[in-house]
Amino acid sequence: MAFSSTLNHEELTFPEGFCWGAATAAYQVEGGWDADGKGPNVWDTFTHQGGDRVFRNQTADVACGSYARWEEDLKCIKQLGLTHYRFSLSWSRLLPDGTTGFINQKGNCFLKIEGIDYYNKMIDDLLANGVTPMVTLYHFDLPQHLEDQGGWKTGAIVEVFDAYAQFCFGTFGDRVKLWITINEPNVLAFCAYEKGLFPPGIPNPGTGAYQTAHNMIKAHAKAWHSYDSLFRKKQNGQVSLAFFSPWIAPANPASVTDQEAAKRAMALALDLFAKPIFIDGDYPAVLKSQVAAMSKKQGYLSSRLPEFTEEEKRMIKGSADFFAVQYYTTRLAKHHENSEKELNCLKDIDVEIFPDPSWQVSQQDSWIHVVPWGLRKLLKYIKDTYNNPVIYITENGFPQGDPAPLDDTQRWEYFRQTIQELYKAIHLDEVSLQGYYVWSLLDNFEWTEGYSSRFGLYCVDFDNPDLPRTPYKSAVEYAKVIQNNGIKGSL
Ligand code: GAL
Repeated sequence: MAFSSTLNHEELTFPEGFCWGAATAAYQVEGGWDADGKGPNVWDTFTHQGGDRVFRNQTADVACGSYARWEEDLKCIKQLGLTHYRFSLSWSRLLPDGTTGFINQKGNCFLKIEGIDYYNKMIDDLLANGVTPMVTLYHFDLPQHLEDQGGWKTGAIVEVFDAYAQFCFGTFGDRVKLWITINEPNVLAFCAYEKGLFPPGIPNPGTGAYQTAHNMIKAHAKAWHSYDSLFRKKQNGQVSLAFFSPWIAPANPASVTDQEAAKRAMALALDLFAKPIFIDGDYPAVLKSQVAAMSKKQGYLSSRLPEFTEEEKRMIKGSADFFAVQYYTTRLAKHHENSEKELNCLKDIDVEIFPDPSWQVSQQDSWIHVVPWGLRKLLKYIKDTYNNPVIYITENGFPQGDPAPLDDTQRWEYFRQTIQELYKAIHLDEVSLQGYYVWSLLDNFEWTEGYSSRFGLYCVDFDNPDLPRTPYKSAVEYAKVIQNNGIKGSL
């Protein structure tokens, strides 16, 4: 497939220096689950336990084999002409039990160096090829040892995460200037600790998400302050965290109750995490009052949504250098009164959420309804709600089923429309959008969907032990967009 072409003057040109990226995450691509002394993480444990919680009980023991095949990934990155590549560090590859205490005891042991060298090589190779790394410290793969001690449910994790973050800033921060501390704390809180769909696999409806969100927000803020006070001056980088957020619109735009319901839904999906960090150190008032009232009715002595102390609020407020958001889909919301007994975060806000049946889905049974205009709305919402921050879209993508055709013309059409919406957001809505990362560089292990859901720009043949990477048509088209810093289109 050819990787170049020139656009004519109907092109929609993006601002100079716009970042065109793609993203991956350690557990989803690396494999080498126990190679060279890597400690187990919660996904290793969860997938090894079986129990049909993951599609066909698949694991990421091998995945795309990126731990042993970095050069092949780099080839894809260069072929695309990416300006930025986002990847995550495997916490338990660097610190097998999750704590820096372990490293201090062992000193420069062979096992430790293996993990560090792998990421050093990635970072050095990217920079040598003019690609800026954006590094995520933690993308769902908590070291098992930490989970065994309560994981995100315990406040002690805040210090442990901070120590890990400092270790990474100190080791890689001379070259890495864009950091994401925690990937999608909101997805993690809801999928892992509220619903039990992700490890540790134990549902805690009504309490798990709030409790763990609380600790994740504090952990992020503490790590940001460590960067600010110990590393920023010398390293001059930027630190944030990445939120998953749908756009949620009122089911009936003319209905005031639906409008209010949509606002509450956005508050739960995004503002619960973003408002403390970007505005004032505290949760949205509407959530505080809804959860407190509901908790009271249910016989709780205090609200199920914990409170930050004044000191914590001061620490959390302003603890991010840019706004990172990951968009996949849009939903509609309408008011729906909850019966008092039901413990469930979504029910706390008296909202029913659903897709418009006329929206296309990216693949059969997918949760992703393809709504490119929703991303523009979301960006405008972030601009208006959070004082026009610099925004990076750190993930956006559309899965195909398995097997997936290399000629993914329809999928590219979704990407094309999405990029057109980004252009409108920048030029018509004056959103300070700085970059866009496709999820994902490679087909990979899609959490509970295993390998059945293919998000890659590159197809990976998981049945072939060499795990060859082949570009989809979307990769070829994306390369043209990057090369021309724009697309053909109309407003
Ligand atoms: C995000 C997550 C990624 C990827 C993607 C597609 O929520 O950060 O790891 O799986 O969704 O579902």
